[in-house]
Amino acid sequence: MMKTLVTFLWAVAFVSYSSSQNTAGTEEPLPGPDATGATVVEEEDPFFKVPVNKLAAAVSNFGYDLYRQKSSESPTTNVLLSPLSVATALSALSLGAGQRTESTIHRALYYDLITNPDIHGTYKELLASVTASQKNLKSASRIVLEKKLRIKSGFVPPLEKSYGIRPRILTGNPRIDLQEMNNWLQAQTKGKISRSSRELPKDISVLLFSAAHFKGQWVTKFDSRKTSLQDFHLDEDRTIRVPMMSDPKAILRYGLDSDLNCKIAQLPLTGSMSMIFFLPVKVTQNLTLIEESLTSEFIHDIDRELKTIQAVLTVPKIKLTYDGEVTETVKQLKLQSLFDSPDLSKITGKAIKLTQVEHRAAFEWNEDGAGEAPRPSAQPGRLAFSLDYHLDKPFIFVLRDTDTGALLFLGKVLDPRGP
Ligand SMILES: *[C@@H]1O[C@H](CO)[C@@H](O)[C@H](O)[C@H]1NC(C)=O
Repeated sequence: MMKTLVTFLWAVAFVSYSSSQNTAGTEEPLPGPDATGATVVEEEDPFFKVPVNKLAAAVSNFGYDLYRQKSSESPTTNVLLSPLSVATALSALSLGAGQRTESTIHRALYYDLITNPDIHGTYKELLASVTASQKNLKSASRIVLEKKLRIKSGFVPPLEKSYGIRPRILTGNPRIDLQEMNNWLQAQTKGKISRSSRELPKDISVLLFSAAHFKGQWVTKFDSRKTSLQDFHLDEDRTIRVPMMSDPKAILRYGLDSDLNCKIAQLPLTGSMSMIFFLPVKVTQNLTLIEESLTSEFIHDIDRELKTIQAVLTVPKIKLTYDGEVTETVKQLKLQSLFDSPDLSKITGKAIKLTQVEHRAAFEWNEDGAGEAPRPSAQPGRLAFSLDYHLDKPFIFVLRDTDTGALLFLGKVLDPRGP
């Protein structure tokens, strides 16, 4: 099991006031420089003993693997993924797999580390939790099969029961099939993901399709009057102007990770979710060091260790989309055999194999949020501690469900203008 050693160095210290006036009632005291130390993650964390959280950690670790692979394939462009929707399609496919292929998929999804015998039942619970209406997350996955395929009757009921998925059999007419896919996607995401014009390849045997949309609602909304064009440093030499939201007195959770040389901040979203930002101290498009440390356990630790502070915050407005395939990416995650000669004998008697993994994602945040911040009352003449947190250079963001710990979306923002 991945063991993570986290060292947080608190480079900030609050100026303590002798005044008894409560200016920041929600803030926990930060440990001073002397309190710096290493925390070894306990594998027996009670959080991971809850079956749905344990499963969420497993599929999220697959998600970080998928992201790392995708990011290494795209060193100079943004990356946007909803790994959970990809994991869902794979997990669903494993219901149609014989033992050899089932093990292959289960290893990729880290199910081999789970003792829970009812993975698929727990997955249903996870899906119900993360797609609850207050989460604003639309996520859909699907198994698409070659035309005229005869499906074994035993395959469909468990698929529908745990994943709400009905396998789709292609007609073989590219125009009709594309239209049907677009219609399905529109229905599943309530029209939030635009229609694709990318035709499906002709030689499909098994295609996995996954899509997700998310529009963030901050717990504390940004004041749109404070949004303005500001610098974003693409790299050491190039700077662009982009719309940046700002909050001069944001309350956020923060930590400086000296090993990763990055500033981590967490902002809460409505629906028990949060956005975690990883911002390198120096401008760079090489985020490898941070990426390599991303695991469910590490993120869980961060969630516990960050300290509440007040900061001058600037965040670029973001609207990112992805419409493409992650076939080659998935292959690299020890899943090549699914594309060669897998055992999918619980789906059909015919020899079929995975040919394509499609992914669509749309992700957005702007000023929108639930309410105004409860402001600490500023007293004139008092020294106000303030830290700057400006997302004005390439960064990574992680959208996490606080209830289960599930990774819902993940992105590398090298250029906030998109795509
Ligand atoms: C990116 O950073 C990593 C770790 O710091 C380093 O090993 C790697 O060589 C860098 N890659 C590039 C392309 O500079």
